[in-house]
Amino acid sequence: MAGLERRLGETVIEVSNVWYRYNNEQDWVLRGVSLRISRGEVVAIIGESGAGKTTLAKHMNGLLKPHRGYVRVLGMDTRKTPTSKIAAHVGYVFQSPDAQIFSGTIYEEMTAGLKRLGLKREEMEERIKRALKLVDLDKPLNISPHILSFGERHRLAIASILAMEPDVLILDEPFAGIDYKRSLQLLRALKNLTEEGRSIVLIGHDLQLIGEIADRVIVMKNGEVIREGSVEDILGDIEFLTSNGYIPLQITIIGSEIGVGRYVRVSDAVRDIEKRVRGEE
Ligand SMILES: Nc1ncnc2c1ncn2[C@@H]1O[C@H](COP(=O)(O)OP(=O)(O)OP(=O)(O)O)[C@@H](O)[C@H]1O
Ligand SMILES: [Mg+2]
Repeated sequence: MAGLERRLGETVIEVSNVWYRYNNEQDWVLRGVSLRISRGEVVAIIGESGAGKTTLAKHMNGLLKPHRGYVRVLGMDTRKTPTSKIAAHVGYVFQSPDAQIFSGTIYEEMTAGLKRLGLKREEMEERIKRALKLVDLDKPLNISPHILSFGERHRLAIASILAMEPDVLILDEPFAGIDYKRSLQLLRALKNLTEEGRSIVLIGHDLQLIGEIADRVIVMKNGEVIREGSVEDILGDIEFLTSNGYIPLQITIIGSEIGVGRYVRVSDAVRDIEKRVRGEE
């Protein structure tokens, strides 16, 4: 991991003026999107349904190729590089686990990608154990994924990508069907991965979880990036969120109403309120 850590901050994904549509009859779905993802950061992409978030995410792992503009993953142009080579560096967890899970048993599902990496059996089994522990899924490996609940299947889908240990992990609505406590636990595990120099791209609507984990937020609307900034900058902007269909966090509203600041994390508000109560401020 030392190699990864040393290059913290370098650009791992560059999206430059990307235009895309699924067919010639429809309007452009992505309209000149540009952004960068750096090593070791957690970036959240938010925006209303249909804004183009999933379409953009699929460009980042080479599943879709831009019609105009380019996407580079670790310097490799996705139009000129085999998708399998890009996918070895960028793991994408589908919005719906059922779009991803095809195998007859949990074990086969977990090993499908790992086999492509050419790992030894012991190393594969070690990674499988670790990944299933991270998502807190404790089921016999020989059962069918299809008898799992929706949230369990989603956690399995996440684990199968985690086990590949990609440089960039894209999670499309990872909290769907997963209870808050497990989501938080998963987010903390993901945050630890960034300390090894991995990057996380999180697509989602849950502002509270995003406030807890993300470093940066990108907002999309109608196929464009309409705003980009720190978590504090975006989630703290009550007017912007409200006018774009989001309900700001309660802690942000309370902090703003009583004039003590626009908090995005409960833990920060608690720390400051305690200081005030003790008369330190
Ligand atoms: N396979 C497809 N063929 C044609 N149009 C598509 C296809 N997939 C998506 N679209 C269209 O592209 C637009 C953007 O879709 P996309 O799934 O990227 O949005 P999203 O921001 O991920 O939305 P959500 O929050 O609902 O997941 C939508 O208008 C959608 O109808
Ligand atoms: Mg989507």
